[in-house]
Amino acid sequence: MANMSLTAHRNSALGEHKARHGPLFRHRGSPLRILALASQKGGSGKTTLSGHLAVQMVRAGAGPVVLIDIDPQGSLSDWWNEREAGEPAFAATTVARLAADLDALRQQGFRMAVIDTPPAITVAIQSVVSVADLVLIPTRPSPHDLRAVGATVELCDRAGKPLIFVVNAATPKARITSEAAIALSQHGTVAPVTIHQRTEFAASMIDGRTVMEVNPDGRSAIEIEQLWSYVSDRLDKNFRRTVIGGSANSAIGPLPQRAGGGFGRRMAGQ
Ligand SMILES: Nc1ncnc2c1ncn2[C@@H]1O[C@H](COP(=O)(O)OP(=O)(O)O)[C@@H](O)[C@H]1O
Ligand SMILES: [Mg+2]
Repeated sequence: MANMSLTAHRNSALGEHKARHGPLFRHRGSPLRILALASQKGGSGKTTLSGHLAVQMVRAGAGPVVLIDIDPQGSLSDWWNEREAGEPAFAATTVARLAADLDALRQQGFRMAVIDTPPAITVAIQSVVSVADLVLIPTRPSPHDLRAVGATVELCDRAGKPLIFVVNAATPKARITSEAAIALSQHGTVAPVTIHQRTEFAASMIDGRTVMEVNPDGRSAIEIEQLWSYVSDRLDKNFRRTVIGGSANSAIGPLPQRAGGGFGRRMAGQ
């Protein structure tokens, strides 16, 4: 991985944002929201959907967006290194520094962070889930994937974090897709948007892009747009609940475990 320095790369993108829209801190009530993609199962689509959703957030004006890759395999980081577009940004961090780096990113004006995780139930994933506002669990419509969701669900429940399943890589019209959605709904909310199996999801990522950038009018792009629209609504709902439950002060972030003064803390070395 080439990009191992601290926090967000391509701050120039942030600079451009400031030039176009004025100071980022003007976004009162729009602090950093953190979406984690997790599932114990490898190959379920965490990395694919992390990259796609982050790019879609930028397209939808939800940025500035920063990507974080907690998977030691670094697939998301590799993809980002192939990218030519300036956004989303990428923050190289570690589990140990995650909370502090998220504070720094919040202060830099990022509004969305997307965190990709390894396919296992590890302390690393627990740490990610504990800072997340929402956990998205991609699940293939297969018995193996369905059997594996229990552990991820339990982890989210223990951390008290809301989760959403998204059925990924579904074959059009296959009965197992709706059966999977029904099975998942016993464990939690299922996104009403299914992402289908299409080569372009994989092919578009070869050179650091996404389906929206390769084929913006295609069905894959529409699915990602709809998925983000749904996830965005859920994030808004969860966030409003956090603010109402906490202080009216707009500086309060969505991370209750850091109510002791995470906001405004400076990072060593910044
Ligand atoms: N909807 C999809 N259609 C086609 N291929 C997909 C889809 N989602 C994921 N893939 C492919 O499946 C493989 C595993 O996906 P990935 O996102 O790397 O999973 P994970 O990060 O959960 O291990 C990759 O080769 C990826 O390109
Ligand atoms: Mg992955």
